[in-house]
Amino acid sequence: MIARKAASAVKTRKKAVGAVKAAKKPAAKKRKPGGKEGKVRICIVGMGIGRTNGRPLHKHPRGAVTTLCDLQRPLMEEFAKELGSPVAYYSDYKEMCKDPDIDAVFVGTPNQFHVPIALEAVRNGKHVLVTKPLAEALGPAQELVAEAEKAGVVNMMSLSTRFGPDVQWLGQRSRKRKLGQIYYARARSVRRSGIPGWSLGFLKKGGGAFRDMGVHVLDAVWWLMGQPVPERVLGVAGAKFGPRGKGYWGFRDVGQETYKHYESDDYGGGFIRFKNGAGLQIESFWASHQKEELNIELFGTEAGAKLDPLTVYRTENGMPVDEVVTRPKTAVGGFERIADHFIECILDGVKCEAPLRHGLIVQEMMEALLESAERGCEVKL
Ligand SMILES: NC(=O)c1ccc[n+]([C@@H]2O[C@H](COP(=O)([O-])OP(=O)(O)OC[C@H]3O[C@@H](n4cnc5c(N)ncnc54)[C@H](O)[C@@H]3O)[C@@H](O)[C@H]2O)c1
Repeated sequence: MIARKAASAVKTRKKAVGAVKAAKKPAAKKRKPGGKEGKVRICIVGMGIGRTNGRPLHKHPRGAVTTLCDLQRPLMEEFAKELGSPVAYYSDYKEMCKDPDIDAVFVGTPNQFHVPIALEAVRNGKHVLVTKPLAEALGPAQELVAEAEKAGVVNMMSLSTRFGPDVQWLGQRSRKRKLGQIYYARARSVRRSGIPGWSLGFLKKGGGAFRDMGVHVLDAVWWLMGQPVPERVLGVAGAKFGPRGKGYWGFRDVGQETYKHYESDDYGGGFIRFKNGAGLQIESFWASHQKEELNIELFGTEAGAKLDPLTVYRTENGMPVDEVVTRPKTAVGGFERIADHFIECILDGVKCEAPLRHGLIVQEMMEALLESAERGCEVKL
């Protein structure tokens, strides 16, 4: 059984590595916006993180949330009130995707529905913005990326950590080669009691801590390292709290009716070796007996850096210099930056900095780590 599963996983991974190699594609073409005012008309699917993404998209001078889609009508009505302008409602995403008055779709449902909804959207010529992780498994992620690229629509990941002000600041430094060659990194996301028990999507197969929060730091650190090609992964993962009804968000008792559905990991960690010889130590815990932390550390040949507190470590005239960076209060937030970039990609034909393909490569690393944990051996990509 394991051997059969492993063989099919290897096949899937080979396809993904091919996908990584084919990463250089032309940017999607500039498209004519719809609506009377020439704004991008957006549908928000999923009234959880959908609201957080929807607000800056709606506030944007060239964007408007015109449609909401969710299984729960009261949640849509509540958000519509907040938006303060008329919206159309859908409970069936397939119907919604046929609506000619929608230019773009944000997908913010549980992981297991990202691909079916985004696929339907791109097949109907809509631009898509998908929350993390791209998918609940590697196969569906590959299918979506292939179709989205073929459709020529703007296809983007909503990555709030990568687009956050501190990571962006470090990214600029790293792009200007101020850190030199980044040859090693550590990234971790640790919660004390943070299993999201409000949606079974997080607990069921395809959910889990690594796809929920590991994905944020993995994507951000991989981007900061210059997106090296992953080569080998060794991981451990498991569920030490969730199936026992412990470690849920804010130390809440979610009850057995919820935690009996537990099928995913509540921690995952490991090591990724890249083709350029760089190494990454990655950790993610939904629950633990440890201090809460979200951090990234970069080891460069000219300087090192840490995300929290944002610090650059250098040597000048033979002396150590630690530069603690204070971010201006006016810095643009991650979700605002995501909204702005998605809209400029659609209206101005700007090349997308966070295409779904990046989500696919991150998914490939995550799935390899989880597979390595399950099989008890290193996974070669
Ligand atoms: N910082 C971030 O980027 C961030 C933060 C939180 C969650 N997320 C991601 O957002 C996704 C949702 O998480 P959440 O916390 O918002 O969950 P949630 O349970 O609060 O919200 C999900 C919503 O999707 C709706 N939904 C479910 N299936 C649907 C379907 N088939 N069609 C239409 N609507 C459907 C539900 O009714 C619910 O309102 C997850 O994939 C998670 O990883 C991202």
